[in-house]
Amino acid sequence: MATDDLLKKVDKSKMPRHVAIIMDGNGRCANALGLLRSAGHTAGVKTLKKILTTAVNLKMEALTVYAFSTENWKRPFAEVDFLMHLFSEYLEKEKLEMHANNVRLRFLGRTEDFSPLIQSQIQSATELMKNNTGVKFNIAADYGGQDEIVRAAQKLARKVASGEISADDITPNVFEDELDTVGQPPVDLLIRTGGDFRISNFLLWQTAYAELYFTKTNFPEFTPEEFIGALLDFGKRDRRFGGIVG
Ligand code: IPE
Ligand code: IPE
Ligand code: MG
Repeated sequence: MATDDLLKKVDKSKMPRHVAIIMDGNGRCANALGLLRSAGHTAGVKTLKKILTTAVNLKMEALTVYAFSTENWKRPFAEVDFLMHLFSEYLEKEKLEMHANNVRLRFLGRTEDFSPLIQSQIQSATELMKNNTGVKFNIAADYGGQDEIVRAAQKLARKVASGEISADDITPNVFEDELDTVGQPPVDLLIRTGGDFRISNFLLWQTAYAELYFTKTNFPEFTPEEFIGALLDFGKRDRRFGGIVG
């Protein structure tokens, strides 16, 4: 079915508010075609553009994608370097179109270990889109769920030490306000491409009650049709949040 017809099938009342994607399998996809891993990353960017367009068309509230983990620095220098260039190029090429689509871009993660150029691109793209009211599009880069939670704990510990709050004031809501996703809804649907069944340190707090969708499709081959299929599948899930059926 064509994407436009599929889009019409989506019942807006059953749509996840926040979808998160672990964009995995770029390297394996390229290798299977006899290409270098870098070709897989380039192809992954093309897929990401299509997925973001779909989210915009669906008026999704929030979309978060995992682009680079705190553990991905372990990869060979040439691959990390390639990913950094790709990231920089993506920001430069896409920011005006994102802005035109009313996308509100945010970065999750540490970012201070990125090059000064990338840090300034992140800042200018975020600044450009800060008043937009469309899809909240989060790119998790140099992001780790554990790192995010530790940074939040450090911020709270400093507030307790300075007397601004007391330890007993710390509730889940107060904690959430220190996370990189502050102000955004929890993740309803977590999609992982690439065939592995793990979280790999992504959004550990925010996925507490997320529905999980794992697919063998490698990210470069993940289509808007399969993305919409995952959303339709989500619409059939019975979410209980610890309660009882019905
Ligand atoms: C995901 O694809 C992209 C990043 C982690 C940057 P991979 O690069 O992990 O590709 P595979 O999983 O090795 O195939
Ligand atoms: C998760 O993929 C990180 C991103 C998609 C950015 P990895 O390829 O790094 O995860 P593992 O190593 O297979 O768990
Ligand atoms: Mg991988």
